[in-house]
Amino acid sequence: GAPVEADISKLEVGQMVTYEWRGQPIWIIHRTQAQLDALPSQDSRLKDPNSSVEDQQPKFAQNEHRSRKPELLVLVGLCTHLGCSPKFHGELVPEPFDPDWKGGFFCPCHKSRFDMAGRVYDGVPAPTNLVVPPYYFIDDTHIMIG
Ligand code: FES
Repeated sequence: GAPVEADISKLEVGQMVTYEWRGQPIWIIHRTQAQLDALPSQDSRLKDPNSSVEDQQPKFAQNEHRSRKPELLVLVGLCTHLGCSPKFHGELVPEPFDPDWKGGFFCPCHKSRFDMAGRVYDGVPAPTNLVVPPYYFIDDTHIMIG
């Protein structure tokens, strides 16, 4: 599939926008500073805190925030369990979730949770972190996905 250009000039802090690339939803999320600050607190509950599983992200995203720019997260929006579409829970952590989970993405199909870097929380049942697609910044407000 051809690369897809995303315009993030109107993406406010805390918001998510969805594009499509190769028939898959691509999420772009402008994370808040609080969401970024919370990432290390989740590490002990994650199956793969260091994003060590190859194929789940390009090398440039093998870091705590799993992205080129810390505040901007780009993910394939498909659960790594059986491919459902997880829901974004960036602000609230609704009951009856674990109070230690700082939010991120919740898959309604079999209750996998991911943190605000798309890393799988508590390790069940999704086997791996959400996929970071290849992308690069054309300029400050445009991302090329693919
Ligand atoms: Fe997401 Fe099963 S498809 S938890």
